[in-house]
Amino acid sequence: MQTTILAIESSCDDTSCAVLRDGLLLSNVIAGQKVHEEYGGVVPELASRAHMQNILPVVDTALKRAGVSREEVSAIAFTRGPGLLGSLLVGTSFAKGMALALNIPLVEVNHLQGHIMAHFVEPSEQYRMTVPALQGVEIRHPEYPFMCLLVSGGNSQIVKVEAYDKMSIVGQTIDDAAGEAFDKCAKVLGLPYPGGPWIDKLAKEGDKNKYPLAKPNMPGYDYSFSGLKTSFLYTLRDMMKAAGVESVEELSAQVPKLKEDLCASLQSTIIDILLNKLKKATRDAGIRRIAVAGGVSANSALRAAMQDLGRRMQWDVFIPPFSFTTDNAAMIAQAGYYKYLAHDFCPITATPYAKTTI
Ligand code: KG4
Repeated sequence: MQTTILAIESSCDDTSCAVLRDGLLLSNVIAGQKVHEEYGGVVPELASRAHMQNILPVVDTALKRAGVSREEVSAIAFTRGPGLLGSLLVGTSFAKGMALALNIPLVEVNHLQGHIMAHFVEPSEQYRMTVPALQGVEIRHPEYPFMCLLVSGGNSQIVKVEAYDKMSIVGQTIDDAAGEAFDKCAKVLGLPYPGGPWIDKLAKEGDKNKYPLAKPNMPGYDYSFSGLKTSFLYTLRDMMKAAGVESVEELSAQVPKLKEDLCASLQSTIIDILLNKLKKATRDAGIRRIAVAGGVSANSALRAAMQDLGRRMQWDVFIPPFSFTTDNAAMIAQAGYYKYLAHDFCPITATPYAKTTI
């Protein structure tokens, strides 16, 4: 008897559905929400409405691409939290309705654990055919234990991973997440939302040493990014004052490569902060495997710096394929699959939660 998991992810502004059969990913459909672009950030109410519009076609497409009928699904996995409550409610309610209608178990997944489980997603040949970047690529899955840097728009944590259901937070941000620092500084520069990918792109043309920015002095393995954000803002403000201009665009016209250099300096500072603590935590724990997960792990300089750190420390480094870094249901299906095999089901009365830890 085959085990087929249908997973739903709706924690923020991506509606996603994936189908996984016997541990192999068959489909992973993601519908983004362009509606937020003009607001410079996710508007929760608009996100919930867009999820309501997207969820049925996304689930339908995921089943069709997988070549699986509803009757063949063994269980429904869904993201229960953390995330935006209105967004989570759409996915949770849909998952419950579908599980009830098909009389199959429901499996809840913690979104953060899902990001880490992205490392275990094994795409089927059928799925690889639809994603050119995955064709012929060998995906390595880490052995336990490993240390995972989990960096997204809402979280920055160092997690010790000992099993799919045994994870502990070693260090975390006390204020902003790394993704937030990218997005907020990008907003100051007038870049579109989400700013992380724009900073990544512009930084490639810039000098990372041009604008020294503040680094926090946090004890232990914790992070802080609010001081860096302020330092970025003040650097720009002081330059505008000195140049006698009112806007970043005016300043840009006077200072060659302003945005590129600022992006490169910011990106390099964020990476330094992230990796210094990861290095310390991993060394102190005596672990020799490091991984990165979450939306910010799509950052090209962070990926390169992780590889470099691995080479220098002789650690094994695990970086997920781009398609499994930002929010997606494949990672939820993977976590849900393990829970299904362990008969770890959740009651139909389960409600979503906006905040939680690993
Ligand atoms: O994991 P994710 O898709 O959503 C959350 O659960 O938060 O992460 C989104 C975050 C955003 O802050 C976005 O700017 C950032 O990931 N991000 C990047 C890159 N791609 C996405 N940050 C830096 N460089 C990138 N290439």
